[in-house]
Amino acid sequence: MIYIPRRPRRNRKSAAIRELAQETTLSVSDLIFPMFVQEGTGLQIEIKSMPGIYRFSVDSLLEELKEVTDLGIKTICLFPNYPESKKDKYATESYREGTLYLDALKAIKDRFPDLALMTDIAMDPYSSDGHDGVVENGEIVNDPTLEVLGKMAVAQAKAGADILGPSDMMDGRVGYIRDLLDAQGHSHVSIMSYTAKYASAFYGPFRDALESAPRFGDKKTYQMNPANRREALVEAQLDLEEGADFLMVKPALSYLDIIRLLHDHFDLPIAAYNVSGEYAMIKAAGQNGWIDAERAMLEVLLSIRRAGAKAILTYFAKEAAFVLNEQ
Ligand code: PBG
Repeated sequence: MIYIPRRPRRNRKSAAIRELAQETTLSVSDLIFPMFVQEGTGLQIEIKSMPGIYRFSVDSLLEELKEVTDLGIKTICLFPNYPESKKDKYATESYREGTLYLDALKAIKDRFPDLALMTDIAMDPYSSDGHDGVVENGEIVNDPTLEVLGKMAVAQAKAGADILGPSDMMDGRVGYIRDLLDAQGHSHVSIMSYTAKYASAFYGPFRDALESAPRFGDKKTYQMNPANRREALVEAQLDLEEGADFLMVKPALSYLDIIRLLHDHFDLPIAAYNVSGEYAMIKAAGQNGWIDAERAMLEVLLSIRRAGAKAILTYFAKEAAFVLNEQ
């Protein structure tokens, strides 16, 4: 007889006991579904590098949202795809009355008043330079960008957005946007700041979806260096002081340590963005029969929750909701 004083396997011996001992859970209410809208009618166009994810015209998007909300998804984040002809140096289309994106927000809010509607604040979908900020002499200039972001924020708040997501990584933008919103009667609109957004290879498929890849250079002068951890604390401290309601880490999977770090140092809810490249990898391997994509999806989402994120932006939201509802 071998004497083993403690046997951890007892807590794994049946499904019921495993669930009793389970430390982290994943539920549909943790998920935010990023969706893409484009001009046109009756359109639903699959993004090649993101199987199962589409760009919708507004009418089709509203139909799709019926399905999405029926699955129990309560928050979506909308991104626009604009044709080249609508893009300019100062992203003026981003705040123009009657533009695709703002009209889509209004239509969604009209039809689905209980849905929490999150937006994106950055110039890249509307910029002829494909950068998140204003370009002058080949450089992304911070302060002139804030003015554009501010106009965008107010326009989105007016259109009915519940949560604004500044994804541009300009210095001072959370405070600038917060002040402007408050001054113009939008103090109830939340800000989920892309606090620690890294200059990542994993955004590739998203830039296909928006046709928004930078026309020159890269985003390393504003997005964070993947080598840095402590710098995320600096960004988080600033976002807290400037009035952010949620702190987000992006991407998620190569940055689980950063999610944990912010979770342990800050009392705001932490969000993580399970980005397009992370989605594409699992889909591609699944389609090749190299991994069980459904199990991989659930494992990845659970790992993001375990790292300390409460909310997860993920292209898997619809699929995950379906699976979680079945369980
Ligand atoms: C742009 C923006 C990006 C994403 C969200 N907002 C791309 C980028 O910074 O180039 C990426 C999302 C994804 O890859 O899923 N401001």
